[in-house]
Amino acid sequence: MAFFFFFVLVCILILLAIASYVRFARRRKEKGQGHGGYGGLKLPPGSMGWPYLGETLQLYSQDPNIFFTSKQKRYGEIFKTHLLGCPCVMLASPEAARFVLVTQAHLFKPTYPRSKERMIGPSALFFHQGDYHLRLRKLVQGALGPDALRALVPEVEATVRSTLAAWDGRVMSTFHAMKRLSFDVGIVTIFGGGLPPRWKAELRKNYSIVEKGYNSFPNSLPGTLYYKAMQARRRLHGVLSDIMRERRERGEPGSDLLGCLMQSRADDGVAPLLTDEQIADNIIGVLFAAQDTTASVLTWIVKYLHDQPKLLEAVRQEQAAVREATDGGRRPLTWAHTRSMALTHRVILESLRMASIISFTFREAVADVEYKGFLIPKGWKVMPLFRNIHHNPDYFQDPHKFDPSRFQVAPRPNTFLPFGNGVHACPGNELAKLEMLVLIHHLVTGYRWEIVGSRDEVEYSPFPVPKHGLPVRLWRENRTVDRTPPCE
Ligand code: HEM
Repeated sequence: MAFFFFFVLVCILILLAIASYVRFARRRKEKGQGHGGYGGLKLPPGSMGWPYLGETLQLYSQDPNIFFTSKQKRYGEIFKTHLLGCPCVMLASPEAARFVLVTQAHLFKPTYPRSKERMIGPSALFFHQGDYHLRLRKLVQGALGPDALRALVPEVEATVRSTLAAWDGRVMSTFHAMKRLSFDVGIVTIFGGGLPPRWKAELRKNYSIVEKGYNSFPNSLPGTLYYKAMQARRRLHGVLSDIMRERRERGEPGSDLLGCLMQSRADDGVAPLLTDEQIADNIIGVLFAAQDTTASVLTWIVKYLHDQPKLLEAVRQEQAAVREATDGGRRPLTWAHTRSMALTHRVILESLRMASIISFTFREAVADVEYKGFLIPKGWKVMPLFRNIHHNPDYFQDPHKFDPSRFQVAPRPNTFLPFGNGVHACPGNELAKLEMLVLIHHLVTGYRWEIVGSRDEVEYSPFPVPKHGLPVRLWRENRTVDRTPPCE
């Protein structure tokens, strides 16, 4: 009997699926989404998969990069698909990425799920376009520009030193250690060096709860990860309001990122440009944009250097010369020292290319757009595929080989986009690179390390990192290794 009901249920589901597919195909034809609609323009080649589901299952049942690469092989550099309930056009050529992100950027707006916007803060700059975005961007870029970074070198160096000292003699997940480092660097960038420890601890605690809920199902029932994350977000906002109030009472807004946002003025030069709510959203947004991105790339750098002893030796020699210039590490590193690390800089660029931790970005077409004879319909998601471009042998010979020397010559325009391009390109790219240079300097001149366990598998958290965050045993140079079992 139970089998009979099960059989009937399966038949009904199959009939429903066929009926909805027929409806979906008819609607698509009526809308001109087949051939010949929209004034004769056709959609890019590709497949839309099942009704509603699209090709989401195919994407998530394998390495996402294999999904994108096999599509590109089959359909070329522009193709359509249907993911997470949205029709999408994917673009895998440098010209197309430039078209969407730079020359026709006004036709493609940033797009994020509403639940993620609520969690980061709806006023954060990456959700916006136009005047508000431009003004905010200027402020953020100013606080992350060369002058500000020059002054930050001692703070970054102190943070790197204490991260490595805490790791010394232990096995730790590299990603975990690098997340702590990039969070701490984010904090000094935003609040300067003098943030009281209790506020820093509150920010760290609540931010880590927000993070855990970021990729969870957006369910506001008490007890769920999403609910807890939204509560923690409220508390973060409370801490930020306290910090701003305290600065105002002291009459010293500060020259760090928070200070720049607090002192910004509207066109009349008097009224504040931003409300405290808008400032808080942007502070949380910058912390969010800065942490996992930088930590993932740093983790890959530790692996790439470990896996290539000859290259590591060459980097060590370059850094030994810098160490001599700092009197064997007795004097602090300066901005000028960081500008003299040519090979190390190339290792960073090659790590950014190889790992391509941001494989693509999302935009949404705000009008019907024609690109190379194809139609990108209004409302469709548009995804420039950075990783496909970085791994295309037409632009990077032997793309799966880790070869920093390829950056002795500048890459062709729009072929190297680890930090995006155009109006939304990453304003934190120089800070991220500074952090990497300083970390590599202290790592290779002061320490030795070995990878513990598997090293070739990849996990997504959400960016790709080596499995388990790359567990590594690290010890100070000239010290015998203590091989007691891992602490972490
Ligand atoms: C290796 C580290 C990093 C990588 C690979 C990275 C990559 C990116 C990319 C690709 C974008 C553009 C996204 C798009 O166009 O949709 C972006 C935007 C952004 N990044 Fe980064 N980023 C890194 C580190 C940082 C750091 C350290 C900060 C801040 C301290 C930061 C702050 C931002 C902000 C605020 C935006 C939004 C800009 C806008 O919408 O105008 N990023 N990042």
